[in-house]
Amino acid sequence: MNSIDRYAVIGHGLSHSRSPQIHSLFAQSTGQSMSYGLIDVPAAQFAAAARDFFAGGGRGLNVTVPHKEAALTLAGPLTPRARRAGAVNTLAAGPGADAAALLGDNTDGAGLVRDLTVNLGYALTGARVLLLGAGGAARGVIAPLLQGGVGELKIQNRTPARARQLAQEFADLGPVSEDGASGEAFELIINATSASLHGEVPLIAPQACGPRTLCYDLAYGAGDTAFMRWARAAGAAGAMMGLGMLVEQAAESFLLWRGVRPDTAPVLAQLRQGAAA
Ligand code: ATR
Repeated sequence: MNSIDRYAVIGHGLSHSRSPQIHSLFAQSTGQSMSYGLIDVPAAQFAAAARDFFAGGGRGLNVTVPHKEAALTLAGPLTPRARRAGAVNTLAAGPGADAAALLGDNTDGAGLVRDLTVNLGYALTGARVLLLGAGGAARGVIAPLLQGGVGELKIQNRTPARARQLAQEFADLGPVSEDGASGEAFELIINATSASLHGEVPLIAPQACGPRTLCYDLAYGAGDTAFMRWARAAGAAGAMMGLGMLVEQAAESFLLWRGVRPDTAPVLAQLRQGAAA
């Protein structure tokens, strides 16, 4: 019987996932003996596949599109940040193989804030921020952005009622509201829609982006995403994809699972080299 601790990412449409590479680099650098695989299942099979994985001795899962809200209901205890987000991107086995004891966490927001403030040296404090999207990805980043001291957070969504609902849900944490398409440019625009996955760009008022605006896409790809191309054409100061966030949220998950925080800088550098090649 193989005694190596098993982990995996579970999602749908995962063929380009960088998570196995990231976690294997983390395992090497921290001297941890573990394996990390891919589980690609549609929504209808998520719960059964996750339960089977843990029943078979699996120790932890990263959960990605489109299962983050379903993972919330599968987990037993939740970390405060997962409960607040209403979405789970990390599951950790309890002492036994009992699915009811699975711990649900959400490391997305911490990963985004760390990429912005540590890797990119971006000053979030006081920034006017526009968040595009109101699904599971958006949910995960709202509280950490507000706790990071942003001056104003506007949420804009194709279906405005969902943006309004999210703004209400997080209003106790800081200045968040649904975007009324204000005339002034934002300092930071974060794309948390799944539009990039289909090569599309959400409808954005052109005045939202100015020469001092940083545009950040939570999605990542082999080359620029559609939103990054939109940002460059709109004259943004910068256009980033979520590769740094991916590595940082992975490091937070790794810390939860293994009790050691890997050094992210060399892993991010290696991934960027691969993306540029
Ligand atoms: P995720 O977990 O990735 O957030 P989701 O919960 O399905 O996935 O949410 C997807 C988000 O992307 C939603 O905000 C969705 O807008 P709606 O609420 O109107 O559905 C948004 N979205 C997806 N495709 C889009 C597109 N082509 N243009 C604009 N917004 C889009």
